[in-house]
Amino acid sequence: MSEDQESKPRDSARYEALDMLATMVAVVHPGGECVFANAAFENVLRLSRRAVQRGNLFDWFQDAGRLSDTVAGVAANTYSSSRFDALLRCGARPQEELLPVHVIVSQMDGPGGDVLVELIENAQQARQDREERSLDQVQATKELTRNLAHEIKNPLGGIRGAAQLLAMELPADEYGPELAEYTQVIIHEVDRLQSLVDRLLAPHRHAQVVADVNIHEICERVRSLILAEYPRGLAIERDYDTSLPDFRGDREQLIQAVLNIVQNAAQALQRQIAEGGARIVLRTRVARQVTIGKQRWRLALELHVEDNGPGVPAEIFDRIFYPLVSGRDGGSGLGLTLSQTIVQQHQGMIDCESEPGRTDFRITLPLP
Ligand SMILES: Nc1ncnc2c1ncn2[C@@H]1O[C@H](COP(=O)(O)OP(=O)(O)O)[C@@H](O)[C@H]1O
Ligand SMILES: [Mg+2]
Repeated sequence: MSEDQESKPRDSARYEALDMLATMVAVVHPGGECVFANAAFENVLRLSRRAVQRGNLFDWFQDAGRLSDTVAGVAANTYSSSRFDALLRCGARPQEELLPVHVIVSQMDGPGGDVLVELIENAQQARQDREERSLDQVQATKELTRNLAHEIKNPLGGIRGAAQLLAMELPADEYGPELAEYTQVIIHEVDRLQSLVDRLLAPHRHAQVVADVNIHEICERVRSLILAEYPRGLAIERDYDTSLPDFRGDREQLIQAVLNIVQNAAQALQRQIAEGGARIVLRTRVARQVTIGKQRWRLALELHVEDNGPGVPAEIFDRIFYPLVSGRDGGSGLGLTLSQTIVQQHQGMIDCESEPGRTDFRITLPLP
């Protein structure tokens, strides 16, 4: 008999079918001692089965008082089942994370007053936290980029000027033209850097011009710009909810934000455009009770830009909104950063779902 089997509490074999469940399930004694925890639970706790089955359920919760009272109450038959929200502590310190879960405690048939504890990840809560974190991150990255861009920009003028002076001082002999090529390289590269930092700083430079904006007008404008660029092989379908009201915003900036996204989709569709079957859909919808960052809105609009291209490369998926992250040859990696900045200046956000054959960029903008 292996050591592992020896150390396994006797009852646990009865519950092994629970390993098949995707939700987290544990069976505990009235005092919280763990009789069994299924595979889903172990995974989330990031503990071994042995560690879990020697442990006490209450140790894995933040403020376990409510849980221990409930388990005791259910075990003592005070009530047959009870539900509430709690925070599960996953992973070891110092990287411990708190996972919001919905807890359901129920009685079990059989001896010993054991209790069944089910945990359902509070997905919405989790999503919201993730979004808040990512907004903070975007903010931090933005500041870093801006400072860095300024630092790079400052000496560029000096470098360019010095290279020009140098070019004028070059000897008029046979070496002159060759050396002049070097100074040209310096000037050319400085200009390239200059335009890069200008674009990095661009979204922070212009004041917003606020007026009534119609999302479909923006979509139509972007659609005709892209179709002018790709006159053949690309279909851009519209699926508009025309009941959407106008809202206050900067029309030109929003056109730029949407254009960057649709342009990316068209670029991702190169092969389909050549072979036929390239398709982008612009879809608008109403959304109710949405949370963007820390704020809740009663009403919002969603603009989906969907394409049937190959999907965002997996290795950059988590970072596509960061500056300078690009999956294309010759890409600047600034398009989505700029779009996200503009949409955030409108209290909105952009997120993305992507798999081969279907990529969906969703712009959410609060409505009055
Ligand atoms: N619709 C899409 N399908 C596939 N990949 C995409 C799509 N949109 C964006 N991407 C990926 O995200 C990257 C970043 O986009 P962006 O910030 O606009 O920078 P750039 O277009 O200059 O590369 C792109 O290079 C591409 O790899
Ligand atoms: Mg782009």
